Amino acid sequence: LRTQVAIVGAGPAGLVLSHLLAEAGIDSIVLDSRSRAQIETTIRAGILEQGTVDLLARIDPDSRVHSVGDRHDGIELGFDGERHRIDFAGLTGRGVWLYPQHEVLTDLLALRLSRGQDLRFEVTASRVDDIDSNRPRVIAADRDGGELIIEADFVVGADGSHSVVRHQVAGRSSEGYFREYPFAWFGILCEAPPSSEELIYSNSDNGFALISQRSPEVQRMYFQCDPDADPNEMSEAEIWDTLQARVPGTTLNEGRIFQRDVLRFRSFVARELRHGRAALVGDAAHTVPPTGAKGMNLAIADVVLLSSALESLLVRRDEGPIDAYAELAMRRIWKAQHFSWWMTSMLHIAPGASDFDRRRQVGELRTVVESEAGRTYLAEAYTGWPFATGA
Ligand code: DHB
Repeated sequence: LRTQVAIVGAGPAGLVLSHLLAEAGIDSIVLDSRSRAQIETTIRAGILEQGTVDLLARIDPDSRVHSVGDRHDGIELGFDGERHRIDFAGLTGRGVWLYPQHEVLTDLLALRLSRGQDLRFEVTASRVDDIDSNRPRVIAADRDGGELIIEADFVVGADGSHSVVRHQVAGRSSEGYFREYPFAWFGILCEAPPSSEELIYSNSDNGFALISQRSPEVQRMYFQCDPDADPNEMSEAEIWDTLQARVPGTTLNEGRIFQRDVLRFRSFVARELRHGRAALVGDAAHTVPPTGAKGMNLAIADVVLLSSALESLLVRRDEGPIDAYAELAMRRIWKAQHFSWWMTSMLHIAPGASDFDRRRQVGELRTVVESEAGRTYLAEAYTGWPFATGA
């Protein structure tokens, strides 16, 4: 097989990239080891930055982000028994949209397939060869073990945190920048009406909780737990008691819990994002802890930058932008790493935290909510910094 850009991974990054490349007249093949149904049903995060929404709405006339998604103009921060609203719209003129990632993927898959994208499900890449040449190749296997070799001008690893492409681009992942956290999130989906109009991020003496939403009938909630917690060990009553104790001042609407999972926290940035004729985007390049919902948004920002760099390389034979890709992408990646780390460390209670640590944390939260500059920083970061295009 022969294409201009071989994209490993049909998540938000790989699919948006294939679309932006097609708009520039560049053809691509997208591979994913999962089936279409798996991609469309795996529950992930739910918040889209303003810039991500604007891009999705521009590229896809049938995107349901505006019809099914829900605009949020602020969040509530809870601590010390108080509740403070961060007014995104008033502070920045921007907002975010609650539109779950699997819905984004459902829209994007339909869009790309309707435009004739060569998109292969259940095809697993095993390695990438010759990225130092102008003819890099992806070696993959289909569901029946049949070998596929894709020869391309450029290979993109959009293949998530267990990326195969990363090995060639960045060396062993242990050579990247890492941070572990001593807690995780216990996440639930339940059948209940919303408990709050806006998301509540709550720092309480019992630990962190996040009250999010999915639809008028389904809610998503999380609470800080031990990373080794077994999601099946708690009864529904214990889960509701835990959540309820962490959002003083709000009475949660309870309902049948039909999904539960434990999300481990990690910060990671690969040491290299590009080597020769291969580059990384999205979770293949970096992982953020979930607080602040930067994961998918950061993947889209990578892709906006990389697509214009590939257009320069493959259409105009200009290598400048691809040579600058890693450095430019890293600026936003480290800002998002900082924001995600900051939201995480400000809102969670580390095991063994002292009274000093707790009081300092409340002092930090108060510093943010009582200052327009503090609230504005949070609002700018949460709604998303403008995309760099490298142009
Ligand atoms: C959701 C997840 C997040 O990490 C976050 O910060 C806000 C919302 C969610 O899944 O709804």
